[in-house]
Amino acid sequence: MKNTWTPNSWRKFPIKQQPTYKDKEQLLKTEAELSTYPPLIFAGEARNLKEQLAAVGRGEAFLLQGGDCAESFKSFDAENIKSLFQIMMQMAVVMTFSSGKPVVKIGRVAGQFAKPRSSDTEIIDGVEYPSYRGDIINDIEANEKARQPNPKKLLKAYNQSAATLNLLRAFARGGMADLNKVHQWNLNYMKNHSLGAKYEELAAKISESLTFMQACGINSSNTPALAQTTLYTSHEALLLNYEEALTRKDSLTDEYYDCSAHMLWIGDRTRALDEAHIEYFKGIQNPIGCKVGPTMGEDELIELIEALNPNNEEGRLNLIVRMGASKIQEFFPKLLAKVEAEGKKVVWSCDPMHGNVEKASNGYKTRDFANILSEVQQFFEIHKKQGSIAGGIHLEMTGQDVTECTGSTSCEISTEDLTSRYHTQCDPRLNADQSLELAFMIADTLKESRQ
Ligand code: PEP
Ligand code: CO
Repeated sequence: MKNTWTPNSWRKFPIKQQPTYKDKEQLLKTEAELSTYPPLIFAGEARNLKEQLAAVGRGEAFLLQGGDCAESFKSFDAENIKSLFQIMMQMAVVMTFSSGKPVVKIGRVAGQFAKPRSSDTEIIDGVEYPSYRGDIINDIEANEKARQPNPKKLLKAYNQSAATLNLLRAFARGGMADLNKVHQWNLNYMKNHSLGAKYEELAAKISESLTFMQACGINSSNTPALAQTTLYTSHEALLLNYEEALTRKDSLTDEYYDCSAHMLWIGDRTRALDEAHIEYFKGIQNPIGCKVGPTMGEDELIELIEALNPNNEEGRLNLIVRMGASKIQEFFPKLLAKVEAEGKKVVWSCDPMHGNVEKASNGYKTRDFANILSEVQQFFEIHKKQGSIAGGIHLEMTGQDVTECTGSTSCEISTEDLTSRYHTQCDPRLNADQSLELAFMIADTLKESRQ
């Protein structure tokens, strides 16, 4: 199988969730241009991430993956990127402090543009339009022209991803991740209430430990790990034209990597075994993920694992479970038992977002914090019972003060509040408070498992 693989061999397979470009010539031209652009990541970084994910799989580290459902061209600014970086740092510090384990941080960022949709068309004010498929494909505005897939958007998505990644790398290496700045990560609008206070308490303990370490001669000049971090990037590799154009042969190993992000995943709607996405993922050496929803069969999952990770390599495959709070008990334990019994090495993470979407009474698409929390708790309990490793969490979240998911004790967003700051381009995200609240809950669970 592998020797027939090429970066474009996916084109011979059936494929779902793709746009129909009218201007085929422009598409070819754009793909050709993109394939001459510099890679966004270096294969060596993807290998480092794979090693760190292998540690997650062994229970020696915890994975935090999060970011927008869909990035957008319109909300592309430094403040957005910075607040995502800061909230992820806050969450990581909370979880590291309790668990005593490193947190591997991966953003849904710098390339998370293409979206699978439930239907090819949607009706807005009585008119039928092609569905919005993400800013890399078409525009969200409801008019026929805006909804036409435009190949040139691939280049804009690449450029935005490059600039985003550049700033993230600067934050990670240039001082923003310095543990001495742990107080400054507390986002302004959180400072005043109980969650902010809880975080400040923890930050004070960290500062105290740093002062002690400094007195012992350990500081950020002789121990860079105290002041620097790595935030890896990831997205759903849905639009394979884009991924193919950024697939490069690594000169050190002679193997192919998708250099559009460190990690890529396959969505729950495009994971059919005999289709294009699985074919494409077989040949890239990045660490990869695959969503696992309620329709996944036990034997199907084993086949999928064998197709994507034939050498049972640690850190290669992240199974991102997204069942929904009311379904996880029914569907997940048997899949987990089967995979464990077969001795497959995978990283298990929990996406408590995509199985918990609901329509609020005012028509807004939302998720209730209680369901999100419940799915995460059940995920941990199921693993505990099985004796396996709950490796990480996969979230749609933002560092901004939005009102998109209802509930949570930290901000108590009601159905009416959804109208206030509902900014998402696609699915509802946890805001900074809700994200931090969830991090504290996970921290407690991780702490328990340490004891
Ligand atoms: C997503 O993660 O944005 C997504 C569409 O998820 P899923 O494939 O699990 O539905
Ligand atoms: Co989503």
